[in-house]
Amino acid sequence: MSGIRISNLRKSYGSGRNRVVALADVNFEIAEGEFTVILGPSGSGKSTLLNVLGGMDRADSGKAVIFGSDITKFSSRQLVQYRRKSIGFVFQFYNLMPNLTALENVAIARCKGSMDERVALKSVGLSKRRSNFPSQLSGGEQQRVAIARAIVKKPHLLLCDEPTGALDSKTGQRVLVLLQQLKKRYGTTVVVVTHNAKLALVADRVVTLSDGRVTENRVNENPLWAGDIEW
Ligand SMILES: Nc1ncnc2c1ncn2[C@@H]1O[C@H](COP(=O)(O)OP(=O)(O)OP(=O)(O)O)[C@@H](O)[C@H]1O
Ligand SMILES: [Mg+2]
Repeated sequence: MSGIRISNLRKSYGSGRNRVVALADVNFEIAEGEFTVILGPSGSGKSTLLNVLGGMDRADSGKAVIFGSDITKFSSRQLVQYRRKSIGFVFQFYNLMPNLTALENVAIARCKGSMDERVALKSVGLSKRRSNFPSQLSGGEQQRVAIARAIVKKPHLLLCDEPTGALDSKTGQRVLVLLQQLKKRYGTTVVVVTHNAKLALVADRVVTLSDGRVTENRVNENPLWAGDIEW
């Protein structure tokens, strides 16, 4: 299966008595172009897993085959390329540059073969806000700028860590609609990490983590349209 295949992935932080096992033994597969929601309680290893998938952190052992390449074998240089070219990342707290406008925040993420930053900003419905600085935008608007920044380079894989966690329910829903549309329009493989089980309703696949292990990996036969769910 081309897509994502994770096997026996392990990662711990610290050493000796301070050692914390974040990923005890993670195994799962995701098909290319799927919208996957990863659920799990606080501390179950969700962010750690996402950081490894995005090449921002290294596992201690195991394999992470992503679109045909095992990224755990990548050199640091290869990881930089991988992050730059293949990965879009959306964080819970937007992480925008405060001294750059909305449009400039998107433009800095461009690389060869990117879409135009204006097109990216338009696709999140923010053309009119392009000259605003982050402090002049609402939380939901800032998150949409962050999504535009993540998608401007047309990543193969879009990784989102609690993208609606800081938003009210209506704005959160709007962001979810956007992520679902992106998958449809560009065939992007989308992975959303959350502890909000409601998000699982819109997913093609739901992976559940508990204490650093996958306890469930199921396909949702009838994913709902994000605009139709009740929060
Ligand atoms: N940099 C770090 N140094 C030490 N321990 C860490 C570090 N990052 C995470 N951990 C620990 O690893 C475990 C998994 O953390 P992780 O952030 O992956 O959980 P999570 O599922 O994302 O939780 P949350 O829902 O609260 O964001 C936790 O016990 C956490 O304390
Ligand atoms: Mg987390």
